[in-house]
Amino acid sequence: MITERERVRETFENLFGSEGEIRLYFAPGRVNMIGEHTDYNGGHVFPCALTIGTYAAARKRTDRKLRLYSMNFEKRGVTESSLDELTYQEEAGWTNYPKGMIWAFGEKGMKVEQGFDLVLFGNIPNASGLSSSASVEIVTGFLLKDLFGFEVSNQELALIGQYSENRFNGVNCGIMDQFAIAMGRADHAIFLDTATLKYEYAPLSLAGAKIVIACSNKKRGLGDSKYNERRSECESALAALQKAVKIDSLGDLTEEQFEQYKDVISDEVQRRRAKHAVYENQRTVQAVKALADNDVERFGGLMNASHVSLRDDYEVTGIELDTLVEEAWKIDGVIGSRMTGAGFGGCTVSIVKDEAVDAFIAQVGAAYEKKIGYAADFYVVEIGDGPVRLA
Ligand code: GLA
Repeated sequence: MITERERVRETFENLFGSEGEIRLYFAPGRVNMIGEHTDYNGGHVFPCALTIGTYAAARKRTDRKLRLYSMNFEKRGVTESSLDELTYQEEAGWTNYPKGMIWAFGEKGMKVEQGFDLVLFGNIPNASGLSSSASVEIVTGFLLKDLFGFEVSNQELALIGQYSENRFNGVNCGIMDQFAIAMGRADHAIFLDTATLKYEYAPLSLAGAKIVIACSNKKRGLGDSKYNERRSECESALAALQKAVKIDSLGDLTEEQFEQYKDVISDEVQRRRAKHAVYENQRTVQAVKALADNDVERFGGLMNASHVSLRDDYEVTGIELDTLVEEAWKIDGVIGSRMTGAGFGGCTVSIVKDEAVDAFIAQVGAAYEKKIGYAADFYVVEIGDGPVRLA
């Protein structure tokens, strides 16, 4: 069977010729186990990199041209532009991600002066919420560093990725996705404090259980504007709290402190948003402790509580994600299940005992299709490493 990296190289050679040095790279996608909508609130997150992600083939040019092609968007064909045209254009679609990275490198004092040809292929399911865009950013950053010899650490690549997503693509995301991808380590999740960027790797070897992702296949529509709305609701709640207590972010509060001060947030909706941010951060800290104590059941219970909070207080789930999770909870052998990522569509993550995986996929799949009217997709995933050069 032809491997993904061979397919990318073959496509590159067919489009752009086989002469010169063609280098191959890979960067993963990510799934967040717990700690949702905490990364822009100074809280903790607990994501891991996956073994699925984005493959890239690239070759330096001698002029300033960029020729970009994605095997996931074949109809678009090759997009030609140049290093002198690095501005966001809506109609430029996915190419805004690599262009944003080249621009962001320049902003950070690493000017790319030579163009290149690039072919990408991603095996992350489309619009799944497993961070295909951050994966494209990090694979691009990694190849820029390697092709042009920039001195930049993987952690810096994560920050540059977030910068380009915020400033070039206009999406106000936190640091979680780019960090999880750039810093991934096989069989480990990353316990990251987004206030300080201090992090620890925690082994996530689930003896006798698997991580199963269920993709709702709901098309994301209003997602991005709702994301920004949640951010500003949290900012307003924080501003209200800061009149009563000296904190820098919602992540600074314990549950008890929140209960003590919450009445200074006069808006009921903002109060619930802040409650989620505070409690979810504490749950994430507890979940990592549970894992260190080898108490996977407790970890799963915290995942379930995370979903309830995202459903009722943060209101970012919707009928599709709720159906996937609530059906999962009915199955014996499901240790924990919750929505993961931004929400409003995308996917759920569940820890499922080995012997229950088939029943999980069959039963959750059937119940979902019956209620929602179209099918979900299921993936049993493995935790992989960060970006690499393959050849
Ligand atoms: C998206 C963002 C992340 C994070 C999650 C929610 O994936 O890109 O920064 O905020 O949503 O936890």
